[in-house]
Amino acid sequence: MKKNILLALAVILAAGLQTQCVKSDKHSQGQEAKIIKTETPSRPAGQEHALLMTAPKLDTVRVGFIGLGMRGPSAVERFTHIEGVKILALCDIYQQQVDSCQNILRRAGWPEATGYAGSPEAWKQLCERSDIDLVYICTDWRSHAEMALYAMERGKHVAIEVPAAMNMKDIWALIDASERTRKHCMMLENCIYDFFELTTLNMAQQGVFGEILHAEGAYIHNLDEIWELYWNNWRLDYNEQHRGDVYPTHGIGPVCQALDIHRGDKMNYLVSVDTKAVNGPATVKRLQGRESSNFKNGDHTMTMIRSEKGKTILIQHNVMTPRPYSRMYQLTGTDGFANKYPIEGYALRPKQLTGEGKLIENFSAHDFLSEKAKEALMEKYKHPILKDIEEKAKKVGGHGGMDFIMDYRLIYCLRNGLPLDMDVYDMAEWCCLTELTAISLENNSAPVEIPDFTRGAWNQVQGYRHAFAEQTGK
Ligand SMILES: NC(=O)c1ccc[n+]([C@@H]2O[C@H](COP(=O)([O-])OP(=O)(O)OC[C@H]3O[C@@H](n4cnc5c(N)ncnc54)[C@H](O)[C@@H]3O)[C@@H](O)[C@H]2O)c1
Repeated sequence: MKKNILLALAVILAAGLQTQCVKSDKHSQGQEAKIIKTETPSRPAGQEHALLMTAPKLDTVRVGFIGLGMRGPSAVERFTHIEGVKILALCDIYQQQVDSCQNILRRAGWPEATGYAGSPEAWKQLCERSDIDLVYICTDWRSHAEMALYAMERGKHVAIEVPAAMNMKDIWALIDASERTRKHCMMLENCIYDFFELTTLNMAQQGVFGEILHAEGAYIHNLDEIWELYWNNWRLDYNEQHRGDVYPTHGIGPVCQALDIHRGDKMNYLVSVDTKAVNGPATVKRLQGRESSNFKNGDHTMTMIRSEKGKTILIQHNVMTPRPYSRMYQLTGTDGFANKYPIEGYALRPKQLTGEGKLIENFSAHDFLSEKAKEALMEKYKHPILKDIEEKAKKVGGHGGMDFIMDYRLIYCLRNGLPLDMDVYDMAEWCCLTELTAISLENNSAPVEIPDFTRGAWNQVQGYRHAFAEQTGK
């Protein structure tokens, strides 16, 4: 009897969900596809979108850092190599983390910053200071949005480690805060600045691959050796409690840039599948000696996305099984192909190569270009950002230099009053997979709508471009 009532309730709930969520998909060729929709809050009156948003130039960018665990101190160190920066405040719950970053400043010959520690709320005092322009957040995932909102409300730009937000409620709150306060809200997605991705983006923008139809990205990184190092076990706990792609931004960020998402195209919907959780609960058992009977995150999660302009994206997440590190990064175009993992390479129709023709003998798009030809191509299409700072970035480092390029660009754009390389809608599009993939999985891989986070302006800017002071005359 109880079973029957439960069954009836489930049917009613499912029917309710579908009527609430049904939307016809023009690509379904006559069949009514059911798409689950989440709520898009309407934009408050008087508030405008933040596309290409600029803020007044800052001669010196005064920075405060929150979260000085594994990631934060390397950011502090990188900032000591950037011109036009002052590090005024350092915050962590633990004094020893603050002290070790003071040592970084000392070693670099920089003055000591004001330290905030001793309480999980100390970061608020940092945000309340009137002499800080940028709050740089490197704490665990759950605390990012609250800190960023508090900082923006107090007149600060924010840069937030990945993923900046873990659910739709926080994503929309960050969008509203950035649109209302006109403060930048940038996610610190470093992988868009890796050398291969930057150069390939430049090639894509110049049509080397023809029209890009399909792209792939991933976060495949076995964390066996790392789980125990996170403060308070936050990362394994989060995976234990959440299904879906909880770390999508390294995979999706670079491909969204290549596909001009919210600059002429938009992602319409996703579907996800995952494996059962095997190594997740085994890791809990190994590290904590307890059974995890309801470990939510599958060992491998895959998500497929279709865009308004008929492009497809495949994103994967796997932090559990023994595999070589991979962010995949593939672009499939009508005339060419780029691939980063496990080997970097390009395959192109011969007609796509003009000046480089003599470098390439007997080549066809069936194979990758030779190493020599690839190098020549990468030199020709080196991204303008790299021309100035490639050498310094390699010297300063941070995942081979991409972290430094990210910080450098953030400060460069703030100092020149330019739109940042990543806006609040990039943050939203790349982070929304965390919750939307879970919704798809909990509904037998049903399609889930990816909202237009610009609320109607996704087609106003044509093509993704980095901003440079010289071009704008600012
Ligand atoms: N982009 C990348 O390549 C990359 C690499 C590593 C980590 N990350 C991201 O960086 C962030 C931090 O990761 P991590 O590896 O440094 O984690 P971690 O656990 O080593 O460090 C987190 C730190 O935040 C501090 N903290 C937590 N709550 C706080 C609060 N209320 N006030 C002040 N400090 C607080 C903790 O004390 C700890 O020192 C995560 O979002 C992670 O995903 C990004």
